[in-house]
Amino acid sequence: MTADQLEEQRQRLTAAGQAQALRWWDELDSSGRARLAAQTSRIDLEQLGRLVREWQATQSQLPTDSAAGAEPDSRGSRDSPGSRAARAQPPSDLVRLPQNEAEQAAAAEAWQAGEELLRAGRVAGVLVAGGQGTRLRFDRPKGMYPIGPVSGATLFQLLAEQMLARSRRYEVAIPWLIMTSDATHEETVAYFAEQKNFGLEDSQIHFFRQGNMPAVDDREGRLLLSEKDSLCLSPNGHGGILSALADSGLMTLLAEQGIDFLHYHQVDNPTAVLCDPALLGWHVLRESEMTTKVAARRSGMERMGVVADVDGQTQIIEYSDMPREAATRTDEAGRLLLWAGNMAIHVLSRTFLERLLSQPDALPLHVAHKAVEHLDDAGNCVVPAGPNALKFERFIFDALPQARRALVVEVDRAAEFNPVKNCEGTDTPAESQAGMLQLHRRWLEEAGARVAKTARVEISPLFALDAAETRQRVEPGTSIAEDCRL
Ligand code: UTP
Repeated sequence: MTADQLEEQRQRLTAAGQAQALRWWDELDSSGRARLAAQTSRIDLEQLGRLVREWQATQSQLPTDSAAGAEPDSRGSRDSPGSRAARAQPPSDLVRLPQNEAEQAAAAEAWQAGEELLRAGRVAGVLVAGGQGTRLRFDRPKGMYPIGPVSGATLFQLLAEQMLARSRRYEVAIPWLIMTSDATHEETVAYFAEQKNFGLEDSQIHFFRQGNMPAVDDREGRLLLSEKDSLCLSPNGHGGILSALADSGLMTLLAEQGIDFLHYHQVDNPTAVLCDPALLGWHVLRESEMTTKVAARRSGMERMGVVADVDGQTQIIEYSDMPREAATRTDEAGRLLLWAGNMAIHVLSRTFLERLLSQPDALPLHVAHKAVEHLDDAGNCVVPAGPNALKFERFIFDALPQARRALVVEVDRAAEFNPVKNCEGTDTPAESQAGMLQLHRRWLEEAGARVAKTARVEISPLFALDAAETRQRVEPGTSIAEDCRL
């Protein structure tokens, strides 16, 4: 950056009332100045100011009993999440778990259609692994968390082995696009290199890094500093995937390679079915632009996003945005009305992503009120006791209502949803491991094996990807008496 460009940054920040970000400018050496100026140059100061003003305005109008810890929306009251939740209905463009032979036959047809796409090399897997994983309190990228109940294999290893097994099954090196962030990039890339990509081909893995958003103080919207030469920055949410795919050149590569469908999954669910033929198949057969997987919510107050129709559009409402009344509403039979929980697994058509990318700001920024450590005016580190700052994130699921056709597919929760979110309470590593052990025991017993009650058995994706493959690999009558990983 030239001296003129640095000066321009200084003037821009001063004009936006953000001169405090340069408080220590005169003390900084040239590399510190360049670092800070590079960070500030990427910020849309006008947009930031608007978001803060909108958030502050909604705070002053916040009804006292609106929701379970709901953050107000920055886009006006009718469109606020609370108001949308009140109008929400269960999703109508929906494939439920098959209940009879006809539905089973339709599911098999979808599966076959998905397998054809995979064999033809028209699918890429996309893993988002840029989150900071604060709730788990693990000081490395979450993907490096050892989760295999017997093997201690990490989340990354289990997911990579699944990609490898599926690539082998369809005789195609399925591209795997892995989104990292400044918080996770170096360690993630080094870990895959050290593990020799868990057997995947180098050319099949594409790391790409998402962008950041700054944190600002909640009273005046001033940019906070983590160091004298650095802003408080955090990853811009899983919705950051959209611009990151374009900026990294991957959108072009996908088009060049004839990859038409992206199968999106997160790092925290070891039993997610990667590049699921069934989900892909439903997506093409129903001519959907975005297809999302759901599982039944356990209760009205479960901390799981809700997939619902609002004014005829399918969308996902965060659990923190659900007023209790809407979250727990029941139908005449006493069943949970908004039963469909977001599993964060989606299929997106490439052409749909291209259309979103052609619109400015296709995915809105959400504001979160959080505790953020920062330097005070004297340069001392402040560790706030409660929320003091605003952070900004985009969510991939905001794409859903923009799809010309969106589809919702229900799956068996126990088999496919065992997320690792928290270090205590629900969705813990222990719960996820118990879920995996139960699932693998079920596959083995369905294959006719006898598994001792005390034996903990884990199945590697390289041994079997599902119950059907377990049946092919395990002789009926096989006896398993001790802990093992097959
Ligand atoms: P979560 O919303 O659970 O966030 O991410 P997190 O960062 O992992 O954990 P907490 O909330 O700090 O405890 C869901 C998925 O989205 C990815 C995560 O890596 C995870 O796979 N993600 C999240 C990103 O890739 N980038 C982000 O900016 C946020």
